[in-house]
Amino acid sequence: MCGIVGYVGRSEAAPILLDGLRRLEYRGYDSAGIAIVNGDRIETRKCAGRIANLGSLMAENPPAGHFGISHTRWATHGKPTDQNAHPHFDATGKLALVHNGVIENYQALKDQLIRDGDKNFSSDTDTEVLAHLIGKLYEDSATTDTRPDGSAPANGGAPSYSKKARLVDAVRAALRQVIGTYGIALVHRDIPDFIVGARRGSPLVLGVGKNENFLASDVSAIVAHTRDAVYLNDFDVVAVERDRFEISSVAGEAGSYELRKVEFGDTDIKKGDYPHFMLKEIFEQSGSVRDALRGRLSHEECTAKLGGLNMSAAQLRDVGRVVLTGCGTALHAAMVGEYLIEALAQIPTEVEYASEFRHRNSPMTRDTLVFAISQSGETADTLGALRESKRKGYRTLGICNNVASTIARESDGGVYMHAGPEIGVAATKSFTSQVTILTAIGLLLGRMRHLSPAQGTGIIETLEALPGQIDQVLKLSDQTKAIAKKYASVNGMLFFGRQFNFPVALEAALKMKEITYLFAEGHPSAELKHGIIALVRSDLPSVFIAPDDAVFSKNVNNIEQVRARKGPVIAVTSGEGVGKLKKIADDVIEIPVAPECVTPILSVIPLQLLAYHLAVELGLDVDKPRNLAKSVTVE
Ligand code: F6R
Repeated sequence: MCGIVGYVGRSEAAPILLDGLRRLEYRGYDSAGIAIVNGDRIETRKCAGRIANLGSLMAENPPAGHFGISHTRWATHGKPTDQNAHPHFDATGKLALVHNGVIENYQALKDQLIRDGDKNFSSDTDTEVLAHLIGKLYEDSATTDTRPDGSAPANGGAPSYSKKARLVDAVRAALRQVIGTYGIALVHRDIPDFIVGARRGSPLVLGVGKNENFLASDVSAIVAHTRDAVYLNDFDVVAVERDRFEISSVAGEAGSYELRKVEFGDTDIKKGDYPHFMLKEIFEQSGSVRDALRGRLSHEECTAKLGGLNMSAAQLRDVGRVVLTGCGTALHAAMVGEYLIEALAQIPTEVEYASEFRHRNSPMTRDTLVFAISQSGETADTLGALRESKRKGYRTLGICNNVASTIARESDGGVYMHAGPEIGVAATKSFTSQVTILTAIGLLLGRMRHLSPAQGTGIIETLEALPGQIDQVLKLSDQTKAIAKKYASVNGMLFFGRQFNFPVALEAALKMKEITYLFAEGHPSAELKHGIIALVRSDLPSVFIAPDDAVFSKNVNNIEQVRARKGPVIAVTSGEGVGKLKKIADDVIEIPVAPECVTPILSVIPLQLLAYHLAVELGLDVDKPRNLAKSVTVE
């Protein structure tokens, strides 16, 4: 949700910033901009639309300079216009700022600035208000020789109270007035080779190079230049120069930091031979599921080993209730998790929309274990839910992909997905990794209770067979492409499944909506007759996820109900279901036979492919769907 890149070093800043923005484009793509300080002027280019537009603008008139900031936007306040694109400037035009987040009290701050005589606003954004506030505090401190909070600087305002220190103080003083979230980076025309960054609620990473340093919303923007990173914490303020940086807090205290090595490299964030990231990530799933399990299954003890949970055997045995929370695709994985944990461990499990959970007073038992599930580890609602359950004293664990993300750092423990970067805006491999990990958690909790060693071994073998079965499912790509072509002119699609595969119906419908913009809904198959059947007609296909399992015959009944009303049917099935459904469905997609608890991992993949191929057939931008952004760091 908005991407920020900053650079200070000896190289030309423009290509580094533009390349970084391209890698962050998944975070927002309705406008983009850049500000580079070149001697005594700030060169700015910004425009509505994709980063390609900004690239053309910069190619026509390349900005020069060795330090600067840049931004790709997902609009919150103000339409995606040239004017509202970041960077924004203070009233003097000397300070440029980029921002990811929401300044909730921007109107009150703006009113005060206007009362103080500032009439120079040129956009509708909350960000511009922050730029003006910091600029005003900086300018005021120059004329009064006091710190922006009114106190005298340590040296009594002598010349050594440098512009750099004054700017950092101004940033701190402004942020103390802000209600809301921010990841920011700013430069000042009069302060060479100097960038200030700060974060609260929106991610910001410092990339540490040799004679050059970087700021970015996500390491993927800078991994081509350095793999040494400092993940900033909330309320950190960082002053960045070419060969040094200093971290302090908004309150003015000296900060500490940990330098970490980024796990992945530049090639991991490239499309390679694939036309889209989404297709690449769909095809990575046998590897990502294998990586989710690597070192986590013990044949000897017939269970899963998840040391990152930081829980003793006794603590695991005492878990009396599980809450799984997340948003979007992660929530759908959580719904599969509910079936899994209840089936394998017989622990009452509930799924909560993070956005609802965080604001309601859900009754919880003392022995409740909360899992916050998030690919990015930065989703504002999931983070809010995590903080609320931690505040109430519940043990709260994370299932995240992004190492050192805020959710991963703030939880009491957890399990990393190790799925590698997911760049396509529509989540694919993160879903199957999340479900895989939830199966391992079900196995672990089950083996603390009634699951026998033989049953544990059975589940381990099932999990170990998955990567090979996923490779088989990926061979269905051409078939799903043909089905996509056949239904390219439909106006919508319905998705149905039962038990473990009901959440797959929801996830498949979400994929279809996100990237094809078709109306799509997912439901438990049996709900059909309670109302949805009114929608059935000859130009609205119904997709049934009906593997050959305990509820297969029930699904067949529902398929017949659709057929009787001339609704086309696409069925995803397995084993003996194939022959049976070929007689009644229009199209049958065959997945391998597997125990029902892992079928969601196999059944979702052809439906990811179906949505993908249909979107391509419709000529849509698969990796950057309309209005969406990955990593939703606003509420
Ligand atoms: C769907 C999608 C979103 C995310 C949701 C949560 O394709 O990408 O629904 O699943 O925004 O994101 P994370 O998992 O990063 O918390």
